[in-house]
Amino acid sequence: MTLLAIETSCDETSVAVVRDGQVLANIVSSQIQLHAEYGGIVPELATREHLRNLRPVARAALAEAKVTSGELEAIAATQGPGLPSALMVGFQAAQAMAFVLRKPFIGIHHHEAHLYSPWIMGHPPRADFTSFRPSVSLIVSGGHTLLVHVEAELEHRLLGSTVDDAAGECFDKVAKLIGLPYPGGPEIDRLAESGNPRRFAFPRPMINDANDDFSFSGLKTSVRYFLRDHPELLNDNQTVRDLCASVQAAIVEVLVTKTIRAARRLGVGCVTASGGVICNRALRQELAVTCQRNGLTLRLAEKSLCTDNAAMIGVLAERKVLKSRPVTSLQAEIAPSWTLD
Ligand code: KG4
Ligand code: ZN
Repeated sequence: MTLLAIETSCDETSVAVVRDGQVLANIVSSQIQLHAEYGGIVPELATREHLRNLRPVARAALAEAKVTSGELEAIAATQGPGLPSALMVGFQAAQAMAFVLRKPFIGIHHHEAHLYSPWIMGHPPRADFTSFRPSVSLIVSGGHTLLVHVEAELEHRLLGSTVDDAAGECFDKVAKLIGLPYPGGPEIDRLAESGNPRRFAFPRPMINDANDDFSFSGLKTSVRYFLRDHPELLNDNQTVRDLCASVQAAIVEVLVTKTIRAARRLGVGCVTASGGVICNRALRQELAVTCQRNGLTLRLAEKSLCTDNAAMIGVLAERKVLKSRPVTSLQAEIAPSWTLD
């Protein structure tokens, strides 16, 4: 089936065309530079950019896929969670398209799409569910930190989530304290590469708690107090690198330890991971090493599919149609606070 998918839940305007598991086009227009000026995402600006970019991005996706709108057999869009006005742009445009083309419409849960994105691989990207296995899935982004038990395809149970800041938010807030530009995660990743992760001992919140929840605001606060008491440390480049490496090590250790523990407890043989923070090199490396040590198969989403994109929305929508899941009403509304369970 040939399907067009739209993603506008946050600060990326993305449109993909998917046919029988093959991603024919996945155009992503990122607004990072626009929001960097304000040190974070400004919802009104995000919405205005989605309104401005959606049509050219959709045209570019159809052109790259060499597909005409008449050939589309279904339309999908992110229904939630996300920024309400941003979600509305893509969701209502997709509903209008489905109405005009008289094709089925599928509203997709953004995190559910992240959940299955590790099964899209290769160049050009293609969904491969033949090797699908039950797994524990870690989803880490700027707004969410989730641990999920994927029991079977399209059947999953939320195990735990963050009780305060998300891991990406912690990266971004710590970077701000250090004076690095937004978004701070990639900056910390870059500087940490030549830093000493053992130089500063920051807390590993909830690492030994007997649950699958996370907390990162205490870690951010401890960096804030540490820098308040030692502001001179920021004057030395190597110390800044060591600081980045030490904070990154704390975040990575908590994420990896709790993911592997959940996988072992539930007896699954596979761990998957997706979301913007999964671009982090130390996290990818540590997940790989620890999974190997524990005899677990690891499927990491490709970096281009970790951050928000419409390919994952389209692939999941197609699986839902193939598995005869109900389509979404053209009168349905966005669900900005939709939880995974
Ligand atoms: O999934 P995403 O693109 O957007 C949402 O939040 O939905 O994730 C963005 C987050 C930001 O917090 C950013 O700092 C973080 O992912 N991030 C990283 C890296 N690349 C992106 N964090 C650590 N290391 C990275 N390499
Ligand atoms: Zn996301």
